[in-house]
Amino acid sequence: MKAHRITLLAACAMATTLSLAQTPAKLKIGLMLPYTGTYAALGIAIENGFRLQIAEQGGKLAGREIEFVKVDDESDPSKATDNVNKLIKRDNVDVLVGSVHSGVAMAMAKVAKDTGTLLIVPNAGADVVTGAMCAPNIFRSSFTNWQPAYAMGEVAIKKGAKKAVTITHKYAAGDESVKGFREAFEKGGGQVVKDLSLPFPGVEFQALLTEIASLKPDVVYTFFAGGAAVKFVKDYAAAGLKKSIPLYGAGFLTDGTLDAQGADAEGLFTTLHYADSLGTARDNSFRLAYAKTYKLQPDVYAVQGYDAAQILAIGTAAVKGDLSKKAEFASAVEKAKIDSPRGPFMLSKSHNPVQDIYLRQVTGKENKLVSVAIKALADPARGCKM
Ligand code: BEZ
Repeated sequence: MKAHRITLLAACAMATTLSLAQTPAKLKIGLMLPYTGTYAALGIAIENGFRLQIAEQGGKLAGREIEFVKVDDESDPSKATDNVNKLIKRDNVDVLVGSVHSGVAMAMAKVAKDTGTLLIVPNAGADVVTGAMCAPNIFRSSFTNWQPAYAMGEVAIKKGAKKAVTITHKYAAGDESVKGFREAFEKGGGQVVKDLSLPFPGVEFQALLTEIASLKPDVVYTFFAGGAAVKFVKDYAAAGLKKSIPLYGAGFLTDGTLDAQGADAEGLFTTLHYADSLGTARDNSFRLAYAKTYKLQPDVYAVQGYDAAQILAIGTAAVKGDLSKKAEFASAVEKAKIDSPRGPFMLSKSHNPVQDIYLRQVTGKENKLVSVAIKALADPARGCKM
């Protein structure tokens, strides 16, 4: 009798061990995003989009349940290296997803490159991340700062502008955006007569707006996003400039911000890889699902978060959940057509989206599609050796 009980216990223990062995470990995702400060709303939209796509996959990737480890990076590059090292070494994440701010993303890319950790960038446009820092384990679901800016340089020329002033936050994203605009604008025969800037995340625009009024350019080009974009658009109108000098921008100026900007944003032209009125079946179903889940309208950041999760899902399925198979993961993602709400796109050799850049105009609470400013625009990926 005693021997029989021991055999039974042993069998039970074996069955438990077997079932444990068959349950794959959770897939740990390190979400490093801003949840406070001027870009807080952007971080939240990215996470919402990411989670929506994971939910559409049944909450698991390649049979592995998902565990999120979240860090508020505060859009502060000086804290970024510590934050990302903690996610890798203390929390043992399988993959990093982040961030919004270019300076933070550059620090993340450096650590990802040094350690070989998978990194998917769901917003930050730092050209260098898929330029000189490009690596087989680094992917981006968003854009480079150059892409929408270059397109707006061409649009400004087509609209007849000859003399432009630029204004932005002084950090990689602003600098690169202005550079991209200048490249196309000057190629088309225009001239940027002055670059104005202020430190991130400052919003004391008054003296700079006075300078714009005295310079009297044909057009102002700007890169601002989040809370700063709201304040800039309102201050530009309050200074009386909206009536006299067209304000053009990379589309972040009016994305996710229209409720707060109200009538001051009406009529503004911007360029971006998304618009609110694409009207495709794919985008409509995404927008409906997002609105139902979060009681919010999606914006470009939500789309980028959603597509970051699609990239992860494609790679994870190809390696059957074993993210140590980095070369197979990369090769599957490189071959994939991402079924994005923005329109289908593929990644370039440097792992940045090759995508249509739309010209949009603010009409009521929407960034309405005007036209495709440049079709299938690939970033030049300067300095990428891959
Ligand atoms: C950036 O820092 O790269 C960035 C931030 C907000 C919107 C777009 C780009």
